[in-house]
Amino acid sequence: MEKRDLITTECYDKEDILKMIRLGTTLKKCIKEGYYPPLLAHKTLGMIFEQSSTRTRVAFETAMEQLGGHAQYLAPGQIQLGGHETMADTAKVLSRMVDVIMARVDEHRTVQELAKYATIPVINAMSDYNHPTQEIGDITTIFEHKCGCTKFNDLKIVFVGDATQVCASLAMVTTKVGMHFVHYGPAGHHLSEEIQSKVKANCKESGGSFMVTENEDEAMKDADFVYTDVWYGLYNAELSKEERMKIFMPKYQVTSGMLAKAKDNVKFMHCLPATRGEEVTDEVLDGPHSIAFDQAENRLTAMRAILVTLVGLPHYHDYKVSTAKHKLESTLAELF
Ligand code: CP
Repeated sequence: MEKRDLITTECYDKEDILKMIRLGTTLKKCIKEGYYPPLLAHKTLGMIFEQSSTRTRVAFETAMEQLGGHAQYLAPGQIQLGGHETMADTAKVLSRMVDVIMARVDEHRTVQELAKYATIPVINAMSDYNHPTQEIGDITTIFEHKCGCTKFNDLKIVFVGDATQVCASLAMVTTKVGMHFVHYGPAGHHLSEEIQSKVKANCKESGGSFMVTENEDEAMKDADFVYTDVWYGLYNAELSKEERMKIFMPKYQVTSGMLAKAKDNVKFMHCLPATRGEEVTDEVLDGPHSIAFDQAENRLTAMRAILVTLVGLPHYHDYKVSTAKHKLESTLAELF
């Protein structure tokens, strides 16, 4: 079987996304009811981290353990990568030892290189370009809180602030399933032309829509979901506190006043970690509209679905297992 990677939100079509929502929510229910299906039994995940992480690391590790597998945390300075060993060699070696690799990297080309040379599935656990695992969790959370709507085409989501890789990934996934996506952010911090044209192509196919605006009333009108992320900027272009305050504050801070312009039952989302008092107030993040912590929990829902989709036991034909078992039995019989 050809290996399958999850490098960007472009890797999956609408059907794949819907399948992962269904698989994730079913597994979540099983586990909440005390059934831990061993779909990843004897599978090992290698986790390469060039940056720190709470949600992504813990969700991947927990998902592997809950489904019968194991995860190895490969932190900077603990493996040879970054010294004189190349990414290609690291990919080739890990491919012979583990079943799937995830990597959180500074630069997107690093995870692309890893996927090129690995013979096993590679998952992007966030790069400067994209955060695809976040978005499987986010779309699952939207599905769970869909405000009584039966179709994604009825839902409007507004991303407020800086066009981070989360903004880009969210725009890609929500428009793939037919949602109406608005970016409310300042000039100079909008999505690139390349991403905008991909998002518009999604809309043509799905019936969704895409808009960029600097007008708060226009952005918030009839919004079902309001989402924000930090204002730091990407790694190679990080903004100082003084710079980000000048650009985004107070206009792009999500406040109760801003949410009051959306639908009455609007939900507030944040990929976390949040810089409380900057992009969002405590009142909103801890308030009745916030589903940010459901979202965090659904990172785990998403990781289970992603891992089972890429390396779960259903992909391994019984023949392979029974042949291996037969070979082992005859070798043991000869040796002992
Ligand atoms: N949202 C997210 O990726 O969180 P971590 O950086 O803690 O993994």
